[in-house]
Amino acid sequence: MAQPERSLLPKHVAIIMDGNGRWAQSHGLTRTAGHRKGMEVVREIVRAAYEAGIGYLTLFAFSSENWRRPESEVSDLLGLLKLFIRRDLADLHRDNVRIRVIGERRNLRGDILPLLIEAEETTRDNTGLTLVIAFNYGSRDELARAMSSLARDVAEGRLRPEDITPSLIDARLDTAGIPDPDLILRTSGEERLSNFLLWQAAYSELIFVPENWPDFNRDMFYGALEKFAARERRFGGLSAQQAAVGS
Ligand code: FPP
Repeated sequence: MAQPERSLLPKHVAIIMDGNGRWAQSHGLTRTAGHRKGMEVVREIVRAAYEAGIGYLTLFAFSSENWRRPESEVSDLLGLLKLFIRRDLADLHRDNVRIRVIGERRNLRGDILPLLIEAEETTRDNTGLTLVIAFNYGSRDELARAMSSLARDVAEGRLRPEDITPSLIDARLDTAGIPDPDLILRTSGEERLSNFLLWQAAYSELIFVPENWPDFNRDMFYGALEKFAARERRFGGLSAQQAAVGS
């Protein structure tokens, strides 16, 4: 499938990469094999996004709730993320991709945090696609941390409660400086947000596709971008046609 028309592209696409486990099960494979195949799809979609000219791509790699999975699966998922950064960082950097990581960083053990920081530092000045990796991320946790930081400023006299605005809240979120997602895509047929970018999703278009993440590919991604391009976004206002009829 050809790349979609640039002027109608979403600036920011966020993806819930769901269905690795079900894909593995349906192929008689281990869940880890599903995640491994999922990582290959991550590579393909990052490239597709970058070639299409998308500004921001956010991937939900590991949620704050994923720690509840068996220890071996958690360790496999962390291992894959580390492998992705170790193997792909140089290529991403060469391709002018900037990496940002969102999610809670306190209490992360081992070498994962230094690696994430290295990825951010190395690519800090890149101006192509911004790849946002949501790791140890949960939207409610992100909002609670933002509220704590605002409450601290109020308690210490730096901020008046009446001066708290949506844009001040935006600036305290992990996504500060990143535009809200225009499109949130979820694979595997599940139709929910699962604690992903709840504040930022206020006006996002949602697209759910039936394929499990390991079966997702560039053509399906471009298909979703075309579907997005055909949607009319009103942000609480009126469409041009409605406005004309009403005047
Ligand atoms: C959901 O499938 C997927 C995840 C919890 C992890 C996604 C991780 C990857 C695609 C690999 C590495 C990521 C990066 C960014 C390099 P699931 O296990 O919940 O599937 P199920 O619902 O079918 O069990």
